[in-house]
Amino acid sequence: MNRAPHADGLAVELRNVGYSLEKRQIVSGVSFKVAPGETLMLLGRSGAGKTTTLKLINRLLETSSGEIFIEGRPQLEWDPIRLRRRIGYVIQDVGLFPHWTVEQNVAMVPRLESWPESRVRQRVREMLELVGLEVAKFAARKPSELSGGQRQRVGVARALAADPPILLMDEPFGALDPVTRAELQREFCELAGRLAKAIIFVTHDLREALLIGTHIGLFAEGRLAGIYEPDEFLHSSDAEARAFVDSLGTEHGRDRSSPKCD
Ligand SMILES: Nc1ncnc2c1ncn2[C@@H]1O[C@H](COP(=O)(O)OP(=O)(O)O)[C@@H](O)[C@H]1O
Ligand SMILES: [Mg+2]
Repeated sequence: MNRAPHADGLAVELRNVGYSLEKRQIVSGVSFKVAPGETLMLLGRSGAGKTTTLKLINRLLETSSGEIFIEGRPQLEWDPIRLRRRIGYVIQDVGLFPHWTVEQNVAMVPRLESWPESRVRQRVREMLELVGLEVAKFAARKPSELSGGQRQRVGVARALAADPPILLMDEPFGALDPVTRAELQREFCELAGRLAKAIIFVTHDLREALLIGTHIGLFAEGRLAGIYEPDEFLHSSDAEARAFVDSLGTEHGRDRSSPKCD
């Protein structure tokens, strides 16, 4: 079931969102908008509130204040199950079902949505190809028969299978070795450019944020310190932004240009 986009064309909007836990304010005053085709990177140190913000969007956590709109409609008006099926979610350890094959994992949401079986099978093939996994080789394997990088590819394929307009990613490549991580980052960057989805991607790695993001939202101590375009971020005078730029070392710090994926 596809909904017509809201008049403002936004996929996700947060207005002054806060989350507190036993009187402790974890996230406060967070506002941003993401349109289809945009990738907003939520960049921040560990504990800054990035994961919490992502979980507020798909309602794994309930906001304490403020409002969230999904495709122009207040989040609380959505049936939570339907809402989550409109939002793909990829996390670091993927959360594939270990006793299911790759095919069964990728087909999960389309089958829950009662797609005709022929369409499900075609969709699984398309998704595996999209993420660079050969169907004949991988469809029948169990997650334990895959490398970490292959598992993350399956996680992305599964998140995209029901064609959700919104994709949330929480440090999806964080646990991979540096070479595989760089490969997946480049491929994902290229994929994101083709998919025209609204993507919100959590990272603590500025290099990843610069490569993949159309925008970078800088998180510090539960607040959004600013939203920047990649090149703008590199020249920001904000102290936390400077700290991240300095962490890059000389490569980008000196020439001050953002890496591009193609
Ligand atoms: N279930 C929880 N109970 C207590 N504190 C939590 C819980 N979840 C998150 N926090 C705290 O909230 C803050 C933000 O966490 P999180 O959103 O996971 O940060 P990030 O993803 O940016 O590393 C941290 O200080 C963390 O310790
Ligand atoms: Mg986190």
